[in-house]
Amino acid sequence: MAEKLATLSFSDGKPSVDFPVLGGTMGPEVIDVRALYAKTGMFTYDPGYLSTASTRSKITYIDGDEGILLYRGYPIEQLAERCSFLEVAYLILNGELPNKQQLEQFVDIVVHHTMVHEQLSRFYSGFRRDAHPMAVLCGVIGALSAFYHDSIDINDPRSRDISAFRLIAKLPTITAMTYKYNVGQPFMYPKNSLSYVENFLYMTFGTPCEEWKPNPVLTRAMERILILHADHEQNASTSTVRLAGSTGANPFACIAAGVASLWGPAHGGANEAVLKMLDQIGDAKHIPEFIKRVKDREDHSMLMGFGHRVYKNYDPRARIIQKTCHEVLEELDLKDDKLFKLAMALEKVALEDDYFIKRKLYPNVDFYSGVVYKALGIPVPLFTAIFALARTVGWIAQWNEMFSDPDSKLNRPRQLFTGPTTRDFVPVEKRK
Ligand code: SDX
Repeated sequence: MAEKLATLSFSDGKPSVDFPVLGGTMGPEVIDVRALYAKTGMFTYDPGYLSTASTRSKITYIDGDEGILLYRGYPIEQLAERCSFLEVAYLILNGELPNKQQLEQFVDIVVHHTMVHEQLSRFYSGFRRDAHPMAVLCGVIGALSAFYHDSIDINDPRSRDISAFRLIAKLPTITAMTYKYNVGQPFMYPKNSLSYVENFLYMTFGTPCEEWKPNPVLTRAMERILILHADHEQNASTSTVRLAGSTGANPFACIAAGVASLWGPAHGGANEAVLKMLDQIGDAKHIPEFIKRVKDREDHSMLMGFGHRVYKNYDPRARIIQKTCHEVLEELDLKDDKLFKLAMALEKVALEDDYFIKRKLYPNVDFYSGVVYKALGIPVPLFTAIFALARTVGWIAQWNEMFSDPDSKLNRPRQLFTGPTTRDFVPVEKRK
């Protein structure tokens, strides 16, 4: 079949130029503009990447109009219902669901990397006790490269694999230690007889003084939340990881960059912001007043946990989390939980309001996750750190994918320069 082309023509009489149109297996085609500058001396201008595909990828597919999310082709609803987090991690990293033996082997390797270097635990005492967990994660994850010199050769696939295992296995330990440091309790060593999720909950909530018993409903809820957060195509933090990775930076440095990017309230930090917003609203009777403020341009209030760059129909993850929320609250005998009721009332008002309807603003993954975390007893500042724990799988998979892509290059965007034109230096005594 003849190559499909897109023709760019100019109104000033310049000759038009053709560009190849590339198709994927699903989703919009792309115009390959890599030769644009060479052919025309012009760049594309797309702040915020509204119309830019920054890479090829085989990992995650989103149809934002239909509210569809697939990991390696499998619908998120099926994976969240039927898989463990490590099963999904294997799928995201390797492209296929593991058979029984592959899964056992994968779990075994992860389990045997859960402990962190003893010296790393001393790193924590350099932080204030009230340090935000995301600040601690940025520092501690970045520091891992100083502890694991044997796995930072990015050109060696084996070394990349070892780093991937280390990061996925140690993130629960590092995150739980962050919490323990905040509350002044002793760090709990991982217990490798527990599952990945149980181990995280044990290291977070267990103490050396008491027997800790997993609760299957709560474990399942956390497992599901981690699955829902595991990857999401070329979102801001994943793009940060890829950008850092394109320079040849080591994987620990790249993931630390991803954590920093995730922290922002427009991205993963929204789960914490939702809880703060619900606290601020306080009661359903204040919802109309809050919505009025959101719509007031001068006020700069946002309905946190609402809106998405890609989803213009419902975020499928929000639906699953809302259901999980029901289950958790039922199990904990918190059916009348004030926060959950307030969140549902707020969602209802927003979904019926013209402002949100016109802009296609729906609840995203962060809207209900905080309510579940809160019910599980997880402190608000740890919310985004748990997002980071789960997303580490996606970050690593996407980072690794770059190495097999012949089109991968140093990510180096250009700009539309609007500053001063060339001018001569003026000595300080002559400046006005
Ligand atoms: C995540 O990209 C990913 O995949 C991210 C993520 C992942 O898994 O990695 O899904 C995780 O980051 C979820 C998003 C969490 N963020 C929030 O919940 C924060 C609140 N949401 C908004 O900040 C916003 O909706 C974004 C940042 C999520 C998306 O912003 P866009 O695509 O840049 O859209 P926009 O800011 O240009 O908004 C379009 C319009 C504007 O109004 P107008 O100027 O056209 O009149 O919608 C308005 C915005 O003001 N708007 C909102 C709003 N979100 C958008 N108005 C009020 N409240 C909101 N939440």
